[in-house]
Amino acid sequence: MSEKKILIFYGTRYGATEGVAGKMAELIREKGSQAEVYNLKDLPDDRIPDFSNYDGILIGSSIRIGQWTRDVKKFIGNKAEELNKFKGKKGFYVCSGYASNPDTYEKVKVEYTTDACEKLGVKKLDLFDAFGGLMDFTDTSRMGWLEKKILKKAAKQTTGESAEDDSYTDLRDWDQIEKFTLEFLGKL
Ligand SMILES: Cc1cc2nc3c(=O)[nH]c(=O)nc-3n(C[C@H](O)[C@H](O)[C@H](O)COP(=O)(O)O)c2cc1C
Repeated sequence: MSEKKILIFYGTRYGATEGVAGKMAELIREKGSQAEVYNLKDLPDDRIPDFSNYDGILIGSSIRIGQWTRDVKKFIGNKAEELNKFKGKKGFYVCSGYASNPDTYEKVKVEYTTDACEKLGVKKLDLFDAFGGLMDFTDTSRMGWLEKKILKKAAKQTTGESAEDDSYTDLRDWDQIEKFTLEFLGKL
C-alpha cells in the first residue's frame, strides 16, 4: 500500500474520543502512512488544513445527551460543502455509552453518525461506527459531580448494577477500533 495522508479531527469531553483519535493515528503510522490529529477545540478556522492535500478524513465526537461537542457541530456545519466535494474518503465515529450495549449499538451507530451528519448537510460517509466510552468516577475525572450523577443513573438503568464511587471503566473495544481504522485505510 502506498503512503497515504490522513487528517483526524475530534471533539472530546472526558477523553475517550481523544484516546481513540490517538490510537487511530498510531495504527495509521504503523502501516507507513501519515496522520495529523487535531482537537477541534484548539483549532482556529484559519488553521484548518486544506482537505485537497489529503487522501482521507476521519472525524470523531463525544456524545452527551445525544449530542456531539459544540466544536464538532460547528466544524461539520461549516465544512459540509467541502466535505461533500472531498475526493478522498470520509469516516466518522463517536464515543458513546449506548454504543457499548449490544441492544442499543445498531441504533446509535446510525443515529449519532450518518443521521446527525445528514442533518448538517453531509451526504455520504464512506465508513462510520460507534465505540464505547469512559465511565470515569475517579477524583481525576474530567466529569463534574452532576455529570457523574447522570452517567451513574444511566449506567444503572442499562446494566442494573450501581457503579462504585471512584471506579474507572473503559468501555472502548480496541479490536473494533483497530478493525475500523484498517478498513478505512483499505478504502484509500
Ligand atoms: C452527562 C452525560 C450524558 C451522557 N449522555 C449520553 C447519551 O445521550 N448517549 C450516549 O450514548 N452516551 C452518553 N454519555 C456517555 C458518554 O458518551 C461517554 O462518557 C463518552 O466517554 C463520551 O466521550 P468523551 O469521553 O470523548 O467525552 C453521557 C455521559 C455523561 C457524563
